[in-house]
Amino acid sequence: MEIGDVRNIESEDEYDAVITDPPYYDNIIYSEVSDFFYVWLKIILSERYEGFNQNATPRKESIVANPAENKGAEEFESELHESFTTIQNALKTDGVLAFTYHHSDSESWGELLESLCDSGFEVTATYPLTADISKFIEGEAVSFDILVVARPVRETEVASWKSLRRDIYRTARRTRKQLEENRDLSRGDIGVMEMGACFHEYSKHHGKVRRGDNIMSAKEVVQEIYGIIQEASDIGVEDVFIDLLDTSNVSYDDVNKLCRGTNAAPEDLKETHLYNQDGGFELGTWDNEKRQAYIQERVNGESGDHLSNLDKLQFLRYRYEKGQAVQNYVEKWDVDDDLRELAGRLADVTGDDTYTRVLGDRDITSY
Ligand SMILES: C[S@@+](CC[C@H](N)C(=O)[O-])C[C@H]1O[C@@H](n2cnc3c(N)ncnc32)[C@H](O)[C@@H]1O
Repeated sequence: MEIGDVRNIESEDEYDAVITDPPYYDNIIYSEVSDFFYVWLKIILSERYEGFNQNATPRKESIVANPAENKGAEEFESELHESFTTIQNALKTDGVLAFTYHHSDSESWGELLESLCDSGFEVTATYPLTADISKFIEGEAVSFDILVVARPVRETEVASWKSLRRDIYRTARRTRKQLEENRDLSRGDIGVMEMGACFHEYSKHHGKVRRGDNIMSAKEVVQEIYGIIQEASDIGVEDVFIDLLDTSNVSYDDVNKLCRGTNAAPEDLKETHLYNQDGGFELGTWDNEKRQAYIQERVNGESGDHLSNLDKLQFLRYRYEKGQAVQNYVEKWDVDDDLRELAGRLADVTGDDTYTRVLGDRDITSY
């Protein structure tokens, strides 16, 4: 039996798996708590085991935020990082690290992901460990434990945020769909696993994700992933339509399949002419006659019919094509973040950045 500071392990390329339960910030100062037992155990065990030769358990080496040792959150994070680096060296290249972590907010996940990736790991999965996590989907701060699985990664690959974001969207959706179809899990549990799958996508590109002229940090990406997961749990007509745009040889079967488990029904898409079936299946893209007629009727209608963001963007895209003014509509309509976000997604999936340009956005990479 070896007892000691994890950071003193000198093995290289030796372990198949490291399974651990590290401390969490200032949650419990284990060394102080341990002394209560240690002083008694020392009396009977010091002859038999090394590690009982001190009068008290190690304080300085204990990885925890402890004001008595002048250690705060920063020290905790850097010491945990040192431990991950040691473990990474000790693991074989195809080895695995599994550890528990306390789930709290996106900030601390950002720290953890940054630290793991900097130590040469990729996160491959995250699993919830306790039951009452229903709050996660309501966006409140939550508190539960997570099992994090990570593996050594050799080299990460360059990616634009634009393409990574699409991968993350897809991964979140796919993970969610698979889990909903095959397992009886709560939405919150699914959210945690979606998060792990998205972390995995990011880990492959850590330190090399470009947004405009900047490299994104893991923290920034985690923030975005949070948003994407919250959104993914509310999949609507617009999301299904974008997935349809992204499907080759699209047919009614795809509409049916992609609507499953979402808030969108095939009839919703049909009524709004996002697809038409008479005379063969066709998608309601901006240049589709029936779709555009439907939108124009609503734009010109007296009834003050509600226009969806997709209606607005396809209408603007159409006017742009016809050389008609778009600015007056852009000014009249409330161009909020949701509209911009959707424009970015449409531009991504179709490769047509007119959707973002009509809104007057020059830099579309940040959406
Ligand atoms: C969450 S507790 C693990 C509890 C354990 N799973 C159990 O059921 O008893 C974290 C443990 O990490 C230990 N620890 C703190 N700093 C350490 C270090 N530098 N090296 C090794 N272990 C450390 C603490 O003493 C504590 O026992």
